[in-house]
Amino acid sequence: MQTKPNETFGYMLPESVSKVISRFKQADKFLDIGSGYGDLVFQVASETHLNCTGVEINQNAYARSCSALRQLNRAYASRVALICDDILKTEYNSEIVYCCNTAFSLSFQYRLTHWLDKQPSIKQIFTLRPLINSQSYTIKTRFLVSCSWDNALCYEYWSKQP
Ligand SMILES: C[S@@+](CC[C@H](N)C(=O)[O-])C[C@H]1O[C@@H](n2cnc3c(N)ncnc32)[C@H](O)[C@@H]1O
Repeated sequence: MQTKPNETFGYMLPESVSKVISRFKQADKFLDIGSGYGDLVFQVASETHLNCTGVEINQNAYARSCSALRQLNRAYASRVALICDDILKTEYNSEIVYCCNTAFSLSFQYRLTHWLDKQPSIKQIFTLRPLINSQSYTIKTRFLVSCSWDNALCYEYWSKQP
């Protein structure tokens, strides 16, 4: 596990997820790094026309998200893909990325930033903790969001590539 267990399943409240979605640039694919029980991926799929992928390392959380997806019975569910894996092991070719990285260790934050830096497809990233020494992304803005534990700052990054 790369995270502190006590904070692992904190989440952004739905009205704030909508606020994040309203800032999305034109794109086809969305990726939630550490998709947990899947709620955020499902909301993005329901409020956009994006193909949405959630990658979750924890098998129990992944199983629960798959079960929730099976019960959705909504057209947008066909645009959701859930994967159980370590995000650092694969590339996903998404343009917009979200990561609730509040509980990640410092060393994992470094590795995650390095992984993000190597993804040419990514145009826009939203995180709840700053990226560490990113070479490929520059901070666009910060805005307040409501989360299950408290208010937090959401950091929006844009790729340095035009
Ligand atoms: C705070 S939860 C976020 C849940 C969901 N994205 C949301 O915002 O509602 C963070 C998740 O990241 C997952 N995680 C931690 N390290 C990971 C890794 N290397 N690859 C994929 N997921 C990881 C944890 O298991 C946890 O479920």
